[in-house]
Order: sequence, then C-alpha cells, then structure tokens
Amino acid sequence: MIKRRLDPDKLFSVGDPELDRQHRELLKLGQRAVSELGERLDREAHKLLDELVRTIEHHFAAEERKLAAVGYPDLEHHRELHFEVREKLAELLLDATSGKCAPVDIAQFVLDWVENHVVTADKPFSNYLSSAKRAD
Ligand SMILES: [Fe+2]
Ligand SMILES: [Fe+2]
Repeated sequence: MIKRRLDPDKLFSVGDPELDRQHRELLKLGQRAVSELGERLDREAHKLLDELVRTIEHHFAAEERKLAAVGYPDLEHHRELHFEVREKLAELLLDATSGKCAPVDIAQFVLDWVENHVVTADKPFSNYLSSAKRAD
C-alpha cells in the first residue's frame, strides 16, 4: 500500500484562496519571528512583533468580512475567538515591555495559536464558504 503524506496545503485550506494565502503568510511570519526573536525587546523585535500584529489584524478583518458576506451562522462566536487572542496578545506585549515575558515567547504563542485556530476553528467554515461560492 502506498503511504500518502498529508498535504499541508490541503490540511490548512479553508476553501478560499485569499484566506489560505493569508494563513500561509501568518504561519511563515510566525515561524520567522520564532527563529529571529530572542529575550531582548529591541528595535528589531518591536518591528517584527508590530508586523505580526498588523498581519493578524488584517487577516481577522478579511476573514470576518467574508464570513459576514456569506451569512456564516457561527460568526459571532468566531469574532469572540479573534477578540480573545487580541486581548491575550495585548497583555503579552505589555508583559514584554516590563520584562515579564520575552519576544520569542510571544512569537511562539502566536504561531501555536494560528496553527491550532486554523485547523480547529477556521476549518469548519470551509464547506460553508465554498458552497456559498458555488451558489453565487
Ligand atoms: Fe483565519
Ligand atoms: Fe479565524
């Protein structure tokens, strides 16, 4: 029997090319941040964390807009999940400025969160998004 490996693109696909691209971008940026950041919150770390936050915000806005456009029934709950991670991220950034946590820990948190969120929370709307598109 031929063993097939899981295709990471399929595993992460939510049935919308723009959101898929943004998820890939977020994962790449998160991985880069984990490898480049360390304990010090210097100028470079600030810049990279800022880029991470802006990329997340941009993605959340696009995702919520698309889900609203197709009338996704679980949108309010999904918005809450996005809101919760925003709050947690703001808390961690504050902790980093007072030395209570390291920039690399924030990057790791974001990377873990994105991986988990896409597979468990975003994935369920993929059928919904693609069938809404077919009905256009
Ligand atoms: Fe997403
Ligand atoms: Fe999401």
